[in-house]
Amino acid sequence: MNERVSVIVASNRGPVTFEPDANGELEARRGAGGLVTALTGALHEAEGLWVSAAMSDGDRAAARAAPGGVIDMRAHGAAYRLRFLDIPADTYDGYYNGISNGVLWFAHHYLWDAVRAPSFGESDLRAWDDYVAVNQRFAEVLAEEGGRQPGRPVYLVQDYHLALVPRMLRELAPESLIAHFSHTPIAGPTYLRILPTVMHDGLLRGMLGADVLGFHSQTWAENFLMSSRSLPGVRADLARSRIGVDGRQVLVRTHPISVDARALRESATEPGARRRRREINRRRGNQRLILRVDRLELSKNIVRGFQAYELFLRRVPSWRGRVSFLALLSPSRMELDAYRAYAEECLAEAERINRELGEPAWSPIDIHVQDDYVGAVAAYGLYDVLMVNPVIDGMNLVAMEGPLLNRRHGVLVLSRNAGAFGRLGRYAVPVNPFDIGEMATALETALDMPLGERQRRARGLSRLVLANPPERWVGGQLEDLERARRRRTSAQTS
Ligand code: G6P
Repeated sequence: MNERVSVIVASNRGPVTFEPDANGELEARRGAGGLVTALTGALHEAEGLWVSAAMSDGDRAAARAAPGGVIDMRAHGAAYRLRFLDIPADTYDGYYNGISNGVLWFAHHYLWDAVRAPSFGESDLRAWDDYVAVNQRFAEVLAEEGGRQPGRPVYLVQDYHLALVPRMLRELAPESLIAHFSHTPIAGPTYLRILPTVMHDGLLRGMLGADVLGFHSQTWAENFLMSSRSLPGVRADLARSRIGVDGRQVLVRTHPISVDARALRESATEPGARRRRREINRRRGNQRLILRVDRLELSKNIVRGFQAYELFLRRVPSWRGRVSFLALLSPSRMELDAYRAYAEECLAEAERINRELGEPAWSPIDIHVQDDYVGAVAAYGLYDVLMVNPVIDGMNLVAMEGPLLNRRHGVLVLSRNAGAFGRLGRYAVPVNPFDIGEMATALETALDMPLGERQRRARGLSRLVLANPPERWVGGQLEDLERARRRRTSAQTS
């Protein structure tokens, strides 16, 4: 960019969370993943600011102890500042559990069983008010912080939690340069219309307050363009991926994120990961290993994955005793009934399959439910088949992490509905996540694949992942915003 800019990131969950250490001192624990790496990298260079909701007592305590509530992360080894918003618990509950997780996540991942759900009522509208209030609070703080920065503020707003922020921020600070990025899929126009109109139109118009809208896959971008077309006064140009609204142009762009290969490879060489690799290897003996690593999340399609494996074992009994399925599942959003019920269903299905097909010296499925990043990093090195079969997924970083660390030319079985499929699909065994038969065949194909073919695919996968470092994801968005700024300046002067 030609003039000095100050990068401001906004996301619901912060890049770190504060917890007291053994001496009671607050310690910053960093979240894993490409998003945090890419954005902290960009903030580091620009000495920028990150605005997030406080999610723990430690976050609130750290914010209270910081001058003006802004935490200087230099004390924690990073050159950016962090501001936590302390939102009253009941408002936060409506915004986060009620709308973000309970409605928007379900809509964008097609998770409703439409005969019975959803059925919107008063409590959803109250939760929507909370969602509006939290988005408004974010917008106000972003506008206020933008006015304090040394350079022109450039905002990078993240995800479905903050879909209303771009429009609200534009009303408060009309000249702002705003990008909004969706890390989830975006439901197609028919499905999105399940939402009450106030939510449907509010979300679309909220996001349209941005200069640039980013998505991980072209399909999600097209879905957004098609939904916006239904709004009065909005002109969506699908061919040029642009939307005209309120006399402004909104660019709709695809920037697939990737993983931080260096950090991931470093974590795989740490003593804890080595120890775990030895343990997993001892247990598997000379069996082949199918692996899945997921949040225990409805969209990940864990139950159908087990059923496909069961079908494969029934169809090809010679594999019994020669293969095992390791499922590393980390608990997620356990405040929601549907998530707790799904967790039980996953455990019950694994137990049933073990009971029906297991033998005294062999158990078909080994399921672990806990936060276990080190275990995942260790297991990535050892799989023969990595099963990634989400119903639908914005991107899916497991499909990238596995091939980077795997040492056995393991095969990736990948859902056609994962955003990652667009880049990695040609080196994966593709599956329809609803088709148990096709997934069972895919497991068999992967296990029987000749070494030369496995090597070719494994090399292709890691090459593609390495070719797209996380810095490129954020760099592309900043370039888009610079383009938007130039276009706006030339429109004003002509
Ligand atoms: C996944 C999605 C992100 C989302 C995050 C929220 O990682 O890909 O789009 O922001 O979940 O998770 P949380 O645990 O904060 O609800």
